[in-house]
Amino acid sequence: MSNVVVVGTQWGDEGKGKITDFLAQKADVVVRFQGGNNAGHTIVFNNQKFALHLLPSGVLSTDKVNVMANGMVINPKALIEEMNMLNQRGVKDFDLRISNRAHIVFPYHIELDAAFEKVGEDKIGTTKRGIGPTYTDKAFRSGIRMGDLLDLDYFRKRLSAALAIKNNVLKMMNLEVIDLETLYQEFLGYREVLKEYICDTSVVINKYLDEDKKVLFEGAQGVMLCIDHGTYPFVTSSSPSAASVPLYTGVAPRYINNVLGVIKAYTTRVGEGAFPTEFDDEVAHQIRETGNEYGTSTGRPRRIGWLDLVVLNHTKRVSGLTGLSVMLLDVLSGIESLKICVAYKYKGQTIDIMPSIVDHLSDCEPVYIEMPGWQEDITEITSFDELPSNAKDYLSKIEELTGVKVKIFSVGPDREQTIVVEDVL
Ligand code: IMP
Repeated sequence: MSNVVVVGTQWGDEGKGKITDFLAQKADVVVRFQGGNNAGHTIVFNNQKFALHLLPSGVLSTDKVNVMANGMVINPKALIEEMNMLNQRGVKDFDLRISNRAHIVFPYHIELDAAFEKVGEDKIGTTKRGIGPTYTDKAFRSGIRMGDLLDLDYFRKRLSAALAIKNNVLKMMNLEVIDLETLYQEFLGYREVLKEYICDTSVVINKYLDEDKKVLFEGAQGVMLCIDHGTYPFVTSSSPSAASVPLYTGVAPRYINNVLGVIKAYTTRVGEGAFPTEFDDEVAHQIRETGNEYGTSTGRPRRIGWLDLVVLNHTKRVSGLTGLSVMLLDVLSGIESLKICVAYKYKGQTIDIMPSIVDHLSDCEPVYIEMPGWQEDITEITSFDELPSNAKDYLSKIEELTGVKVKIFSVGPDREQTIVVEDVL
């Protein structure tokens, strides 16, 4: 087990940051493979809270190589701000490598993200960080990549070509056009800070894999937000699935055989889109407050739902999960009865696979089993054996209904409140 992929199995915010930070202690290399600063990882370390959006979670452990791979979209201004924030709080000298093939998020991407959300009839509820428009440019071949900053003539040529189109779009949307020279100068400043980190990260990662070093691939968001396998169109614009790791990092698929799926003990979602197990009562309120279910990136209250095994089995299949990490188990303490969704009722039929049309998913009624909850505070426990029997049963039920072993579970925000049942790296 010299490498592991960590993926979110729901709609993001499952607690991947905490687990990757935890596993990073054992890893030599931590690779973030997709997304941008739409993601938010909260890591509690030494009683300090760190909110990371772009940097791989390994930056908090010194002596790790941290890679921002080609599948990412990077807002250089936001990245520099994040690096400065860490420096100011004493986290310095981390080893960072940025892919020369990662796409750059420009101010026009952010403007257009917000503008499209305003006029669109199918509002996605994006984070307005310019993620969709940047991946659109990548696919449209009008994107500009981090490595382009290393050749100023080329960068300027690409920027000029991009603005020729973008300014027309901005005008159509009644937005201010962008001056080439001003934008170019702004990016020269970012280039000065970031150029030393930019390289071919596929070469870097493969070198470490060949040396049998431990590599941790860190996904952002969750597989239900995958552009291919998620609840399209209410998804993000990249693939957070383990299947995307080879493409998004430049490694061979044969390296991807150990995939840890991170799940919340319940489910949350931010933004719009179908969410069959959503509920909104006293218990949901309790879960939101105890679990601090507010977006790390946007502060939006998260929608709350019961654990959904149709979702989890879908994620397991498309992402090849070989282990689970169940997060925020402590948040369920004090709830009398817990529901687990095991199938959906759709037009009178019972189904256990995810419909591809999101409107059909909206019409699905969850079929639940109920399990007794536990009243005990479990935040201090240090082993599976110390769990109340109802909490043990809850975890066992998840294993039984997914066929995937719970290898880690978490009973609080701190690194120490992470219980390993079986090593994953
Ligand atoms: P975008 O990624 O900003 O384009 O947003 C698309 C959808 O993904 C929206 O529903 C967002 O709320 C959701 N989303 C994006 N990033 C995250 C995340 O890190 N956690 C949870 N939801 C996210």
